[in-house]
Amino acid sequence: MSITLPTNSKMLSQDFIFGVATAAFQIEGATQSDNRLPSIWDTFCATPGKVKDMDNGDIACNHYQLWEQDIQLIKRLGVDAYRLSIAWPRVMDENGKANQAGLDFYRHLLKKLKEEGLTVFVTLYHWDLPQHLEDKGGWLNRETAYQFKKYADLVTQELAEWVDSWATFNEPFCAAILGYELGIHAPGLSKPEYGRQAAHHILLAHGLALPVIRKNAPNSQVGIVLNMNRSYAASEKAEDQFACLMRDTLDNQFFIEPLMTGQYPKLLKTVAPQYLPTVLPGDMDIIAQPIDFLGMNFYTCNHNAYDADNLFKNVKNSQAVEYTDIGWEIAPHAFTELLVNLHKQYHLPPMYITENGAACADHIVDGEVNDEQRVRYLDGHLNAVNKAIENGVDIRGYFAWSLMDNFEWAEGYSKRFGLIYVDYQTQERTIKQSGYAYRDFLNSRKG
Ligand code: NOJ
Repeated sequence: MSITLPTNSKMLSQDFIFGVATAAFQIEGATQSDNRLPSIWDTFCATPGKVKDMDNGDIACNHYQLWEQDIQLIKRLGVDAYRLSIAWPRVMDENGKANQAGLDFYRHLLKKLKEEGLTVFVTLYHWDLPQHLEDKGGWLNRETAYQFKKYADLVTQELAEWVDSWATFNEPFCAAILGYELGIHAPGLSKPEYGRQAAHHILLAHGLALPVIRKNAPNSQVGIVLNMNRSYAASEKAEDQFACLMRDTLDNQFFIEPLMTGQYPKLLKTVAPQYLPTVLPGDMDIIAQPIDFLGMNFYTCNHNAYDADNLFKNVKNSQAVEYTDIGWEIAPHAFTELLVNLHKQYHLPPMYITENGAACADHIVDGEVNDEQRVRYLDGHLNAVNKAIENGVDIRGYFAWSLMDNFEWAEGYSKRFGLIYVDYQTQERTIKQSGYAYRDFLNSRKG
């Protein structure tokens, strides 16, 4: 099994970027080193019943110590680019002052990545809010948006030299809705009005930070990363069609529409006003400022039936389909449809697929990990991106999630998304078949 694209694919051209992605809390470990402050994920992990097996980020992949070796692995995969995130609690103290030791870690890392010829994509916020800010209300407190602006200012002043692309936020949906509306991610709060207000403050923080990042990093591009699942209706019935519309509105449009057009979906006003946040005059103009790129994370699709209490409920596909180890349907066609639909609906900036990948129940057998499902997944989804490009969507790059197995949030270490296997006892890394397939595909471009 290999990864192949049609020979005339635009993705095979020199300027299309292929990479791998990670996030700070998921790989770094060293949560107590060099004056790092506690984050909401440290607190969440320490709360019984929240994270599978009470796993935590204390050691993770020990990337904080093993980063040089990990860069060599990135190189061995033959990718053009690496996407990582900065941990806010590492680089700023409680008074908003720089923590030089934390900044030094990223300075060394980024410098080395550039020396190795990699294009560097950095995300400022991949979910690890400093706990002291959560203690003051976290993303429910508008002031956190202004704190984020200060953090973005500090980081881009210090590190812009080695970064090609800045994303303000990774997946506001997950940070706000899973964290404050559904309670399954940190900080674990659950009220509809909380989730939407947190989302608004995150989008506001994105907009407040944009001019600051542009000023400090005039040679980099700046954007934001959204996650989207393509929504389908469980049946032709009008009520299921409505459920699907609401799912798409609340999960997807709620985030992209304000960024692209400066308003929350109008439908909510009449149908579900409880999902509309408090917005102050001027906020929407701040949120809708132009961005250089939109990052899109895609994994799966969902199917929706009507539910009188919650507008929609998730149901399984009635067809026999394949799922990954985390229970997510494999649906590459949904990826193409999602991208093409967004392209028809909005005037999109250039896009990057900032994450895409599969969790598989991987095992090492005779020193090898034969993750055939992941290879097929990558092949299918890369071809799905290619089809979207053929249909006019301006996509400039693709990042596989993830470089290596890591802390999968509420699932702890039980779900493996890596192209590289991590033995958490020994910290030994083993490139999986998917890693080799990705490398072979990338090498074939040059030949
Ligand atoms: C989205 C997130 O950005 C990443 O942190 C997570 O591990 C993957 N998707 C897989 O769930």
